[in-house]
Amino acid sequence: MTRTNSLVSHFECYYCGTAYDLEHTEFPCPECGGILDPKYDYDDLDISRNEIESRNGSMWKYRELLPILDSDNIVSIGEGNTPIVDCPTLAEEMGVARVAIKDEGQNPTNTFKDRGASASISGASQQGIEMVAIPSAGNAGQAASAYAARAGIDCHVVLNYQSSDIQKTMVEAHGANLHLVDGKLNKAGGKFGDLRDEHDWYTVATFQTPFRHEGKKTMGLEIFEQFDWDSPDHIFYPTGGGVGLIGIWKAYQELSRLDWLEDDTPPSLHVAQSSGCAPVVEAIENHDEEHDAWECPESIGRGIEVPDPGASPWILEAVYETGGTGVAVSDSEALEKALTGARHAGIEMCVEPAAALAGAMQMAEENKLDEDDEVLIINTGAGNKATDALSYALE
Ligand SMILES: Cc1ncc(COP(=O)(O)O)c(C=O)c1O
Ligand SMILES: [Zn+2]
Repeated sequence: MTRTNSLVSHFECYYCGTAYDLEHTEFPCPECGGILDPKYDYDDLDISRNEIESRNGSMWKYRELLPILDSDNIVSIGEGNTPIVDCPTLAEEMGVARVAIKDEGQNPTNTFKDRGASASISGASQQGIEMVAIPSAGNAGQAASAYAARAGIDCHVVLNYQSSDIQKTMVEAHGANLHLVDGKLNKAGGKFGDLRDEHDWYTVATFQTPFRHEGKKTMGLEIFEQFDWDSPDHIFYPTGGGVGLIGIWKAYQELSRLDWLEDDTPPSLHVAQSSGCAPVVEAIENHDEEHDAWECPESIGRGIEVPDPGASPWILEAVYETGGTGVAVSDSEALEKALTGARHAGIEMCVEPAAALAGAMQMAEENKLDEDDEVLIINTGAGNKATDALSYALE
């Protein structure tokens, strides 16, 4: 065993507080169905910010703050360590001091989902699991199948027919078992539940495995390090299940707890959704503590077409505690801004992150951003994931 020196101690349910040891494989919380969250002994950390800065490579440079104990169980294909790309033309257009894009499209399977997949498949490996399963709109399934292949773990991926050819083909190219179901993500989720119960599958689904959001947390750890242990004023995040946003929120809380931040003011975390499926934005507008499920979701940004995000109380906590907001944009606005990102900044975005750029630009237009603000957009996935949709936007 090669120790990672991870500070992880146990899992704790976000809702009912029940603690579980690290061998626990029954997800979500058997007591209440809640999300299991890894907990750490931060007081035992004996590395400095300088030590972290001197490390190169993948998201596993933050291994002390990840829940894997033995390096041999880390399943990595070079995920994370993505650049922050300055976009002065966009800053000028928006009338703010700085606009930067965290380009998660540069991950191995071209989305930020690789971080969650790396952590959750490493977690499965740590728990001695030989088969994993996941329902997905497409990108998470593609990422999971890549990491499972790398680990030599069997993988079942439940997608719906609307997932893209790239996603379906790559899942099978990685050797995973592809199950296609009718209907949208919620139907795929329902079908997944039936199959999981029937086959006793070990799930790496969003907020069921306790490992996945920890991988996404590294996106936040990187952001703060890349901003010299400080925060941008605003972060715009394309929100479906909210895993990445919660990951960034948890990263902020950890670094604040470790006293590693130059200034303890958090970045305002803004939820961007499609106006065809905006349950979290609606909850924010109503100052609610949780969302109401959206009856008829309709967006071509499949990753943010999530009508019933189970973690909404945690997402809303992050938004309210950081002074964030919610902003909904139409698919056509998102597509238009995907072209703006490509033409004015050279950045290739798929539809979901383009909704975040569109949301930020909408808030700038409404004079809700200040001229000395620093704005960060999370480009969760590369443009090549959505060439069909983007081609419609071309005149
Ligand atoms: C490209 C892209 N962006 C954003 C999201 C939403 O992610 P989250 O679950 O972190 O809200 C997804 C989820 O499928 C996605 O594929
Ligand atoms: Zn619980």
